[in-house]
Amino acid sequence: MASDPNDDIVKYIAERSLEAGQTWRWCREKITPGMAQAFFLQHVLRNRFYSAVLRPAWVSRCPDLAIVRKSINQMRQELVYDDEIKASHTKILWEFGRIVGLTDEQLDSSKAEPKVALFFTALEGLARERHWLVGWVATSIDEFIGGHIEGHNFHADRWKEDLGLSEEQVFFWRYHEKADLDHGGYDVWEPIKRHVTTDALREEIRDGLEVALEAHRNFFEGIALLGDRLDKQGVRIA
Ligand SMILES: [Fe+2]
Repeated sequence: MASDPNDDIVKYIAERSLEAGQTWRWCREKITPGMAQAFFLQHVLRNRFYSAVLRPAWVSRCPDLAIVRKSINQMRQELVYDDEIKASHTKILWEFGRIVGLTDEQLDSSKAEPKVALFFTALEGLARERHWLVGWVATSIDEFIGGHIEGHNFHADRWKEDLGLSEEQVFFWRYHEKADLDHGGYDVWEPIKRHVTTDALREEIRDGLEVALEAHRNFFEGIALLGDRLDKQGVRIA
């Protein structure tokens, strides 16, 4: 069980997220060719939506300039340019899509599965309508969960083990193991404590977190259902 939010709201967010994340489909299932392709067919949509819609929606109401700068820098790294890899994350995302057998055309024309569309709609509601802290938490828990649950498919080694890929081929994941630590987690979320000044806001964050977690359950369920279909069709990676 997650700890008492009245003691430490950040610890509560982290523990509750890890508790929920353990139960989601796809995250720790075997990575078959269908599951691999399904993730990337939906993640390309998420990549753009997070940085072009969801993060700006709450950042526009955030009074903490340090958080604003950090978040805008993340959007830049995702969609425009990350100085460390001299490319955008979108670029390495498309490259990895090709490694798991997808064409650029498939990635460019991908549509959201119904449960994934539900996830987008729910998160957009949180990011636009609720307190900016709820938007921040909702758009950063996934990276935290992926990095902190053992055997989660957000780890590069899982793609090597299940699909037989080389270290060079799993660069997208290896790089994100480090980059994602900067998106969410105990240290990153530390400023939340400073901004949560009332019990009502503490409760609003807790309630928003539950919606965000249920939305994520749908996201991964949608991916897994698509993966099941693709595997039935017999898709193969390169
Ligand atoms: Fe990224």
